[in-house]
Amino acid sequence: MTATYQVHGDIAVITLENPPVNGLGHATRSAIVDGVQRALEDAAIRAIVLTGAGKGFSGGADIREFNTPKALQEPSLHTVIRVVESAGKPVVAAIHGLAMGGGLELALGCHYRVAVAGAQIALPEVKLGILPGAGGTQRLPRVLGLERALNMIVSGSPVLSEKLAGTRLFDQMIDGDLLQGALGFARGIADQRPLPKVRDLRVSLPNADGYLQFARNTVRAVAAQFPAPLKCVDAVAAAVSKPFDEGLHFERQLFLELVQTSESKALRHAFFAERAASKIPDVPGDTVLRPIRSAAVIGAGTMGGGIAMNFANAGIPVTMLETKQEALDKGLATIRKNYENSMKKGKLTQAQLDQRMGLIGSTLSYESIGSADIVIEAVFEDMAVKEAVFRKLDEVMKPGAILASNTSTLDVDKIAQFTRRPQDVIGTHFFSPANVMKLLEIVRGRQTANDVLATVMDLAKKIRKTGVVSGVCDGFIGNRMVEQYIRQAGFLLEEGCLPAQVDRAIEKFGFAMGPFRMSDLAGNDIGWYIRKRRYVEKPEVTYSRIADKLCEQGRFGQKTSAGWYDYKPGDRKARPSEAVNQMIIAHSAEIGVQRRQVSDEEIVERLVYALVNEGALIVEEGIALRASDIDMVYLTGYGFPLFRGGPMFYADTVGLPNVLMAIRRFAKGHHPEAWRPAPLLEKLATEGKTFN
Ligand code: 3HC
Ligand code: NAI
Repeated sequence: MTATYQVHGDIAVITLENPPVNGLGHATRSAIVDGVQRALEDAAIRAIVLTGAGKGFSGGADIREFNTPKALQEPSLHTVIRVVESAGKPVVAAIHGLAMGGGLELALGCHYRVAVAGAQIALPEVKLGILPGAGGTQRLPRVLGLERALNMIVSGSPVLSEKLAGTRLFDQMIDGDLLQGALGFARGIADQRPLPKVRDLRVSLPNADGYLQFARNTVRAVAAQFPAPLKCVDAVAAAVSKPFDEGLHFERQLFLELVQTSESKALRHAFFAERAASKIPDVPGDTVLRPIRSAAVIGAGTMGGGIAMNFANAGIPVTMLETKQEALDKGLATIRKNYENSMKKGKLTQAQLDQRMGLIGSTLSYESIGSADIVIEAVFEDMAVKEAVFRKLDEVMKPGAILASNTSTLDVDKIAQFTRRPQDVIGTHFFSPANVMKLLEIVRGRQTANDVLATVMDLAKKIRKTGVVSGVCDGFIGNRMVEQYIRQAGFLLEEGCLPAQVDRAIEKFGFAMGPFRMSDLAGNDIGWYIRKRRYVEKPEVTYSRIADKLCEQGRFGQKTSAGWYDYKPGDRKARPSEAVNQMIIAHSAEIGVQRRQVSDEEIVERLVYALVNEGALIVEEGIALRASDIDMVYLTGYGFPLFRGGPMFYADTVGLPNVLMAIRRFAKGHHPEAWRPAPLLEKLATEGKTFN
């Protein structure tokens, strides 16, 4: 049963019941049509109320049906809306919680709408790269006016129902019980004829053409690679210029076009990937969580400060611990400055700043953090320092406290062994700046308890991060892959590229920042430090030595005003450096490589397929639970272009046999050892399958 039918005197009530959000799947659509027909056939019924059980009215098309035959099976949403709109008895939509996408479109097909305050009203389809496909672009402007409707459709953002009170969207706002209010309303209008239909209204705005032109220009500037926002404007324009049915037809055409675009496929993939990432196959969804009411952070440096802000932003009191008062003072001052900057941008009020600073305590003594529910260590990246900290935490923390490490390269299993409670130890790998970046890699140690993992996944949501589980390995998911990407970038320099060409090519592909600009921002010395360790621990792994030469000259990046590029003090603009370029060319000669012209296409393929090949190994080894988790890591932590859906999804769209062919071609080049096709990639390519 996905919609129930009840009779309240002379009013029929159809209640959508398809948890979690009453998605309009096939069974629900059928049940609505059946309910309306039943009410029409019953002479005792004068009006129909359509409402939703649970969380809200409806979250729209059932996304679980996307890409299945059921999505298209009759009655389609169009048919449902036609049945409702053409019913000979009034249909009243009674809205609470949320009316989104197809849910709002269904409500717009009803003759009347009533709502309680606090409901989220939206046409969010644009966020999935499509547009409202069941009349939303034609009906919403008719009830809200062109400007307001266009804003909602192009942004996809929800608006609270009370903000729309007084518009033609709602015939009445209900105080108190929604069903009672809706029944009262329905009785009041039951005999009124003709039945009002949104389709009969006209969209009016003086100089609509001028406004639409302005809207197109504005939207074009922000939509970047995404076609949907502009198509939304086109569809809304049709609501002004075309008769209703023609407008509806036009909307349908655009919808069908957009559904096929690679950008929409990428956005839908990202939507599902985000939700999939929170599911851990061997950890049941109903695992009892450990309560997180307070936190502690060890180390108030770059990462520790940002991590503490996350807790304060979520209203969780947090204490930072350091070895010296000056370090604490510095950490607190940086946090305050960050909040003040947000305040200057109008994102935070003084009261919020005070409240958040009030939640951040500081201490030099371990004894005062013993009662925290979770402690996150963010001290220097040095096993000996981590060991001392974890031994101390094991002594002072209350039983059941979660002990987390923000290490970016060290072995979490080894860290866990410094305690007598390895089941409570987990990795929480934040990205810099930790208060801004969405990604949180959650590193599951060999002995990490299920409830610890589930609690940290839930915490990620509370602090508004995208949590992705990673197994223990060098670099976890993200940095292990980026290492291959950076290696290729180095080899490209040896073979004939200069930093600016590599950066330009990959930025044109859509990356926020190329590898050399990124390295200059992060500090070239960090990679140098890691490489020096690798030269000893893993001498078989090859690297271009150009980056070492750069560091030997003290060119650490922006912080020294010199890196792969030149910088003027206080200016982040990267200027190609003649000295560096000459050094690169000289290096090629030194190692006997004949420099050649490398195409932008080759640059992109080598950088991206290096990610893909390592990603395939990571899936195969079970370090990532699924390929789409890797996509989430890259979309939320590494600036991979959203419209391409992440490296693994992108590889799927290119075709795995093509990716494999390119990798085999690269394996005949300058550094064959860096191109061993991952067995999983070979297997899927041969079987004609995909990662996702
Ligand atoms: N259909 C089915 N299930 C849905 C759904 C939908 N439309 N929207 C969300 N869900 C599911 C989620 O998958 C999740 O399931 P899970 O617990 O099994 O993982 C559960 O509902 C809760 O979702 P969230 O974790 O996202 O919960 P929130 O409370 O944070 O958000 C929401 C709720 C605002 C409804 C958010 O889920 C959302 O934005 N959903 C998408 C809404 C949307 O885009 N609707 C338009 C669909 S396209 C359409 O209608 C086409 C039409 O124009 C023809
Ligand atoms: P940082 O050098 O900015 O801060 C470290 C802080 O720890 C310093 O303030 C120091 O005084 C303090 N500290 C050192 N030993 C301590 C001890 N025994 N007890 C208490 N405090 C101590 O370093 P950063 O960049 O914040 O890195 C911290 C951790 O986060 C490292 O493990 C690093 O690998 C990891 N990380 C760093 C990222 C980055 O981009 N900086 C990204 C992701 C993880």
